[in-house]
Amino acid sequence: MRRPRRNRKSESIRKLVRENKVTADDLIMPLFLTDGKNINKIVPSLPVAKRQSLDFILKEIASCLKLGIHSFILFPKIPKKNKDKTGTYSYDPDNFYLKSATKIKKKFPQITLISDVALDPYSIDGHDGIVRNGEIINDETLIVLQKMSVAQAKAGFDVLGPSDMMDGRVEMMRVALDASGFVNTSIMSYTAKYASGFYGPFRDALDSAPVNDPNIPKDKKTYQMDPSNSREAMIEAELDMIEGADFLMVKPAVHYLDIIARLKDNFELPIVAYHVSGECSMLIAAAKKGWLDFDVVMPETLLSIKRAGADQIITYFAKAFMTLDSKK
Ligand code: PBG
Repeated sequence: MRRPRRNRKSESIRKLVRENKVTADDLIMPLFLTDGKNINKIVPSLPVAKRQSLDFILKEIASCLKLGIHSFILFPKIPKKNKDKTGTYSYDPDNFYLKSATKIKKKFPQITLISDVALDPYSIDGHDGIVRNGEIINDETLIVLQKMSVAQAKAGFDVLGPSDMMDGRVEMMRVALDASGFVNTSIMSYTAKYASGFYGPFRDALDSAPVNDPNIPKDKKTYQMDPSNSREAMIEAELDMIEGADFLMVKPAVHYLDIIARLKDNFELPIVAYHVSGECSMLIAAAKKGWLDFDVVMPETLLSIKRAGADQIITYFAKAFMTLDSKK
């Protein structure tokens, strides 16, 4: 009789036939940077992440490196006084996010440091592009994204992550970067980024949600993708590929495993999955209630993202996963 159970009979055999494994090399750890000193505050709606000033960010990176994690994506919490309609602070040479990136790369030249390219943390309206008459203006936003990209490359980021979903951004960024001599700065495009409700805790962490004003769109549905659509992700991926992206990303991850699998089957670029804030918070909350065993469901979740086809996983659980893994 065919007996599939034979391949499950011991931990040793199970390890031998295991098809997928999450390793430190797959993981990208998100970090929330805030201006100032000696700040290390848990994000209440995502109690695995912290808003940290540079001194604590440096310590955080050192402790992640000890666990084998060597890639980081850095997000800034911008003080309200530095926000305006067009995000000018994003390319201000005095911007603490840019200055911190330079210091991080100086201390840890071996890491991969990834940025976020979008207007939302810098926008007084809380949108990823310039808002005028209730509309997000695509092409004018691209000019700001170009300036932001060159400033970030100059600061020392290794990889730029456009998360704004404006049309044509990858090409415009590539052109600006090449013209400024940053031919080796990579682009990790948020290719299929959905207008998801799972970004809530992230917006809490950065204070970056669309503002409550009748003249400002209250959601991001005119630029982020409709959760109903799968074929549209193929159009976005094809464009990013042609425009010169080095990585294609799907975001969120767990609720969009079909999109990850589809991109993996159809494109030869590395496929990144962003396991977003709300997807992480759900597990933490259920575990706190005693309804789920965190140490079981957390690795199972990362594994399912990998099994779907993700080559890299951005997750707030990167450190927790490696800590657990090192105890095995
Ligand atoms: C900014 C950005 C967002 C996230 C990453 N970059 C929020 C948004 O688009 O509103 C979400 C990440 C997360 O929820 O963990 N454009």
